[in-house]
Amino acid sequence: MDVAVITGSAGLVGGEAVRRFAPEFDLVVGIDNGMRQEFFGPAGSVARGLAEVRRVGNYRHHRVDVRDQAAVDEVLRTWGSDVRLVVHAAGQPGRAWSAERPLVDFAVNAVGTLNVLDAVRRHCGDAVFAQVSTAKVYGDAPDALPLVETATRWELDPAHPFHEHGVDESIRLDRAGRAFLGVSKLAADLAAQEHGRQLGMKVGVFRCGSITGPGQAGVPEHGFASNLVRSAVRGVPYPVVGHGGKQVRDVLDVRDLVGAIREFSLEPRPGEVYHLGGGRERATSVLELIARYEHLTGAEVAFDYSPRPRFADPRWWIGDTRRFRRHYPGWSPAHDLDDVLLALHRHWSAADEVVAPG
Ligand SMILES: NC(=O)c1ccc[n+]([C@@H]2O[C@H](COP(=O)([O-])OP(=O)(O)OC[C@H]3O[C@@H](n4cnc5c(N)ncnc54)[C@H](O)[C@@H]3O)[C@@H](O)[C@H]2O)c1
Repeated sequence: MDVAVITGSAGLVGGEAVRRFAPEFDLVVGIDNGMRQEFFGPAGSVARGLAEVRRVGNYRHHRVDVRDQAAVDEVLRTWGSDVRLVVHAAGQPGRAWSAERPLVDFAVNAVGTLNVLDAVRRHCGDAVFAQVSTAKVYGDAPDALPLVETATRWELDPAHPFHEHGVDESIRLDRAGRAFLGVSKLAADLAAQEHGRQLGMKVGVFRCGSITGPGQAGVPEHGFASNLVRSAVRGVPYPVVGHGGKQVRDVLDVRDLVGAIREFSLEPRPGEVYHLGGGRERATSVLELIARYEHLTGAEVAFDYSPRPRFADPRWWIGDTRRFRRHYPGWSPAHDLDDVLLALHRHWSAADEVVAPG
């Protein structure tokens, strides 16, 4: 029997991984304790995401906290060497929250990852392991690049070697503020790499920029494209925070991220680290995304502006995905920014905001 284990299975990345891998595996085992609601309140609830994955015929859910080492171990022990793939997407993604409760943040992101890695090592060490990491591990290091301000965005000096394709994996990790979230995610990222490099496990680390899709419970703290559309559809002002709304992110549809993880799973390279994002073609500032959404839908987006930026929130990030594409030439993103925005618009226009507890 072939089993895939997906942590964070009710969330954006995990939910998409369940749907994508269900037809290819006999069983998909999900781990999620619904903790996103604790981080972000009822608007962050993943109850809808959980209900959706529960409808997948060969899905089995475990309401397990990744901080609970014994419980995580028990799930992996149950399926043992039948487990061929693990996508670790459970996590605490909020930077302000991480500053308020750094111990909990570290326990979820860093210790939780180590718990999953260790259980995989002991019970199904041959499985492919995808660690969903983040460009936030670099904190504000990208702000040391020579940036210029244009009418609608921060932009890298066109003479800089990163201008055309974005920042590659050689960017420094030290001498940066990164919020406690960046610390816990970096610890997880390094622990995952070590299981690949030292122990030879089939671990791949994917450092993502801004991932989105209808499965995202976008809130002001996390999921800016989702929350922008959600706010616009509800007629609530969207909170733009700092940098004149000109901060740039490389948006990637979650289906394209999971497609990349699938490519890796077919021919894993132990201990590799990849930037995974939408590239320059899908990079947008907040102001530009608002204008694009208004153009696509004819709606007018109201927003509130707070000038003080979030701590260690860089003005510009585009990840260079060429390393991944060299290793996996079959992959390229299939969904452009308009697809992403229209999918979010359809989702939030149809969504009933009242959700049952997860
Ligand atoms: N969405 C993005 O833009 C983005 C970008 C870069 C990296 N990431 C990383 O990818 C991962 C997944 O992100 P996402 O956007 O799917 O987030 P998400 O919040 O939609 O999903 C995470 C899921 O993990 C679950 N969870 C949280 N704590 C848990 C715990 N202690 N035990 C079990 N389950 C728990 C949550 O309930 C949620 O369903 C995160 O680690 C995040 O840091 C996301």
